[in-house]
Amino acid sequence: GAAELGPYRHYMQKEIFEQPKAIADTLEAVAGVSPELFGDGAHGIFKQVDQVLVLACGTSYYAGLVARQWIESLAGLPTTVEIASEYRYRDSVPNPRTLVVTITQSGETADTLAALKHARSLGMPHTLTVCNVPTSAMVRECKLAFITRAGAEIGVASTKAFTTQLVGLFLLALALGQVRGKLTDEQEARHLKDLRHLPAAIQSVLALEPQVIAWSDEFARKENALFLGRGLHYPVALEGALKLKEISYIHAEAYPAGELKHGPLALVTAAMPVVTVAPNDQLLEKLKSNLQEVRARGGELFVFADADTHIQRDTGMHVIRMPEHYGWLSPILHTVPLQLLAYHTACARGTDVDKPRNLAKSVTVE
Ligand code: G6P
Repeated sequence: GAAELGPYRHYMQKEIFEQPKAIADTLEAVAGVSPELFGDGAHGIFKQVDQVLVLACGTSYYAGLVARQWIESLAGLPTTVEIASEYRYRDSVPNPRTLVVTITQSGETADTLAALKHARSLGMPHTLTVCNVPTSAMVRECKLAFITRAGAEIGVASTKAFTTQLVGLFLLALALGQVRGKLTDEQEARHLKDLRHLPAAIQSVLALEPQVIAWSDEFARKENALFLGRGLHYPVALEGALKLKEISYIHAEAYPAGELKHGPLALVTAAMPVVTVAPNDQLLEKLKSNLQEVRARGGELFVFADADTHIQRDTGMHVIRMPEHYGWLSPILHTVPLQLLAYHTACARGTDVDKPRNLAKSVTVE
């Protein structure tokens, strides 16, 4: 009810603003990087596996796409990520030394549960879930679990569940790296420090809300939008597009910016806003030339740029500056303004933000 909402208009807005606390709560019991964060017996399993298979749906699937890059970079384990409803219905080649990782906020998504059982029936016994509900079917089904402490998420469009999943998945990448001798004590200390600083870092991103609101009026008048990101931030672009679709009903698509020239550039006109996630990483210069391709065709850019990227405001070039560059955990920070953009655009269009048409919070039937 209204009392629970406090100063917020919708649960989604409240849940976006709860992210610093949700992440702090998720990290509360984490004293250091260790397989035991995932349960008894995790060390033995992490030592045996030589591959990771992530299974999930919706927003949780996008968390898996970020995790793939973390696990391959920080643990050196080949990782594949599959949409649960596709995996269960195709022939695949099982490897018994696979760590099967399901990601699910509810722990009750029928497709994800069925995909887990399918993987197990193919002879892959090592199962782990990153889940927000400790009493859920998924936690009961998996040998290992990391429980996110996002608290109840009521808005159908997932927000704090996603960012806390990313925290759990980053810890998984670190723990796998540790067991495989790829994590020095110094690196562990630095990663932990970055994780612990996340709540404060998110707080300063939330303070950008008025700037995002200023963009949302223009967005509310559009019928299409393109989201661009590269590398670790391509899944963030996918998540930003999904949020906008789900609650504002604006058609949105995400592309890795290097793919623009292979199709979506044909769609770019002044009527197509192009939202870009621009962290200061090794792909920045390439991303900037992708942005020039858009501008040269009259496209209007809305860029979330890290502090030191030197991306300047100009005609057709709107920039919101992110407070700091955040390295490996940058996808978590860059997700937040995209949530706010979808939220305020939906509010400007007057949709039912917490209960978008045709969608359910948890899909427990196929
Ligand atoms: C539904 C929800 C999404 C969610 C997806 C997967 O589609 O509307 O927000 O990402 O299910 O849910 P899960 O509980 O498995 O993460």
